[in-house]
Amino acid sequence: MLLQEIKTIFHKELEGIYPKEEIDAFFYRCIEHYLGFERFVLVVRPNTTVTMEEEQPLFEALAQLKQERPLQYILGTAHFMDMEFAVNEDVLIPRPETEELVQWIMDDVKNQTYDIRNQTSEIEHRTSEIRILDIGTGSGCIAIALAKYIPNAKVYALDISEKALDVARKNAKANTVDVTFLKQSILEPEPELALEFDIIVSNPPYVRELEKKEIKKNVTDHEPHLALFVSDDDPLLFYRAITHFANKNLTKKGSLYLEINQYLGVETQALLKAHNFSEIELRKDIFGNDRMLKGTVK
Ligand SMILES: C[S@@+](CC[C@H](N)C(=O)[O-])C[C@H]1O[C@@H](n2cnc3c(N)ncnc32)[C@H](O)[C@@H]1O
Repeated sequence: MLLQEIKTIFHKELEGIYPKEEIDAFFYRCIEHYLGFERFVLVVRPNTTVTMEEEQPLFEALAQLKQERPLQYILGTAHFMDMEFAVNEDVLIPRPETEELVQWIMDDVKNQTYDIRNQTSEIEHRTSEIRILDIGTGSGCIAIALAKYIPNAKVYALDISEKALDVARKNAKANTVDVTFLKQSILEPEPELALEFDIIVSNPPYVRELEKKEIKKNVTDHEPHLALFVSDDDPLLFYRAITHFANKNLTKKGSLYLEINQYLGVETQALLKAHNFSEIELRKDIFGNDRMLKGTVK
């Protein structure tokens, strides 16, 4: 069959479920993933044909897209910070907003805007280990990207979900980084976590039940609710536990970086103030929503 014909079938079948541009993106991602074709193959070779064997996974993916299963779960892989992460329904699909949070940390480390643990001299400042903790690691995307891009980082990552940790461990191995993974609930931290950290980062569950209706069906039906939702009564449950923990376990001048609920920027900021953090900074994401918060221990 002509590849162009398959593209037309994708549009016909998925029209009304997704916007045209998204259907294009699905099609090109699928032909890249399954057939190794570049995006411009149809421009360069409009008469490209594929065998029945080659077209089979494309039609299987199409059937699942019709059911609104996220493409990353269908392909079993997602991109994050120029890295490849295995994903399945046990982990949240890494989001571009979270890349911005990781970039913020990387920039701060590069610019050395804070003192590194046990820093005693200029040279030691540059070479000493930076101890980082990622709370609620999911696929491991934050922890693994930081371990990859910050050479002197010693990274710890925790999650309450053993299944998520299985995925994260595989991702660390595939991306050739060393991360210490711990199965723990941040709501009841265990003694082995009583370490001093230079940086604590978290993208905890923060979507209120009342915000469920704003979320697309492909997210609510397929992504893990454990990773997404909090009760309307206590939406800052995780932020309270994390700021409390960070206040005790960050080194002097250590920093906490949080991805936050866009509607709760002011409240989350107040929580950091109440836990003695200073230099608090709220940032917006690429979509213009309040999304990231940083605070430093006085
Ligand atoms: C929003 S997801 C973030 C995943 C990943 N860090 C990312 O940015 O894509 C939140 C994660 O927190 C984990 N989680 C939920 N409750 C937890 C708890 N009590 N203690 C630790 N982790 C928890 C979930 O399993 C999920 O992996």
